Amino acid sequence: MRRTHYSSEIDESLNGSRVTVAGWVSEIKDLGGIKFLWLRDREGIVQVTAPKKKVSQEIFKLIPKLNAEDVIAVEGTVNFTPKARLGFEILPEKIEVLSRAQAPLPLDPTGKVKAELDTRLDNRFMDVRKPDVMAIFRIRSEVLRAVREFFAGNGFIEIHTPKIIATATEGGTELFPLRYFEKDAFLAQSPQLYKQIMMASGLDRVYEIAPIFRAEEHNTTRHLNEAWSIDAEMAFIESEEEVMELLERLIAHTINHVLEHNARELETLGLELEEPKLPFPRLSYDRALEILSDLGKPVEWGEDVDTEGEKLLGEYMVENENAPLYFLYRYPSEAKPFYIMRYDDKPEICRAFDLEYRGVEITSGGQREHRADVLVEQIREKGLNPESFEFYLKAFRYGMPPHGGFGLGAERLIKQMLNLPNIREVILFPRDRKRLVP
Ligand code: 4AD
Repeated sequence: MRRTHYSSEIDESLNGSRVTVAGWVSEIKDLGGIKFLWLRDREGIVQVTAPKKKVSQEIFKLIPKLNAEDVIAVEGTVNFTPKARLGFEILPEKIEVLSRAQAPLPLDPTGKVKAELDTRLDNRFMDVRKPDVMAIFRIRSEVLRAVREFFAGNGFIEIHTPKIIATATEGGTELFPLRYFEKDAFLAQSPQLYKQIMMASGLDRVYEIAPIFRAEEHNTTRHLNEAWSIDAEMAFIESEEEVMELLERLIAHTINHVLEHNARELETLGLELEEPKLPFPRLSYDRALEILSDLGKPVEWGEDVDTEGEKLLGEYMVENENAPLYFLYRYPSEAKPFYIMRYDDKPEICRAFDLEYRGVEITSGGQREHRADVLVEQIREKGLNPESFEFYLKAFRYGMPPHGGFGLGAERLIKQMLNLPNIREVILFPRDRKRLVP
């Protein structure tokens, strides 16, 4: 039996027609002379009605024997009637049981009985059967489609860089070591150095959507040990401002795409997503410190703004500027990695920025230092050894245009967009300090 329609595809034009639907048994009701079953598929629910007089003996006997979450296919006639819960029903002529579900279930797929996050993640296949959870992953799919669409429409070329690497990208911490035949290697924490090397190739504008691996030990609601990063790098820029402009257009395009394509999912989640206003405010690091000091949370110049500070600033920007999204920029050079370009007239400040969304950093980026001699100096200054960056530095000695880019965390973006409490909600099988299975 082949499915002919998803539940959502059945409309009045099919009244009286034969269809085949397939999915999971969601609910059964036995009223003696009439039996009901509700079948759930990816797109919704259909009611199957079996009055004793109108269906075969076989079907009439089978329905009460089905278990919740059995997988079945039903062939029957569509009947539009106000008596049915959803306005129509299917009168079954054939029911095939494709797979049986054991009882009891590991969690309640209707979502009525709440389960702990760990139980949900241990049984993700069943967790995703819940409409609100499925909505998140349908939105995630659209987010990534929107991102690809945006990059392709803006002249970016998709690249793929290695995930097994020999050198740390941004200092030696937070790496997962592994044995690579006779050598020591690591899982890549960022495509940073490779996407920059590609700026010397003439590809000009590149992007990559791939996992990044970070051996961060802290278990927080915003960190994963395996996350998906949306990385971009562009050449022939004059300042970090061009990168920020591209990024804010990307974010606006993505949110608008979700508004357009995921109206049903947003409704399922009970979310009203606002259309973002461009340009996003640009808040200098110095100004952020003033605001934080006024809010009673002083930060010493040169230090990064911590999680609590970010949250306070996020609230401030919503209240005072009506801006859930804003840039923090003009950071102290000491707070940012070696590859960020410094202002020539003020080297203690650099051309790095972060994009904040409701008080959480979702992106960091900037203009890079493309002058080989200055770059070597900055590597040294950070206490790193230029020799271990030779494969990277080489690309700067034979014609490297000015360039810049960013890394946007896919899970951070989706978590903040959907206002979810935990980053684990937006990745199917999160990897964290405790989770390696499933
Ligand atoms: O701020 P990060 O570490 O910057 C970089 O990797 C640079 N190479 C980017 C650049 O082009 N300059 O990471 C970038 C983004 C963060 O803003 C965050 O959204 C996400 O990647 N991210 C994580 N997401 C989840 N869990 C983690 N442990 C993450 N670490 C970074």
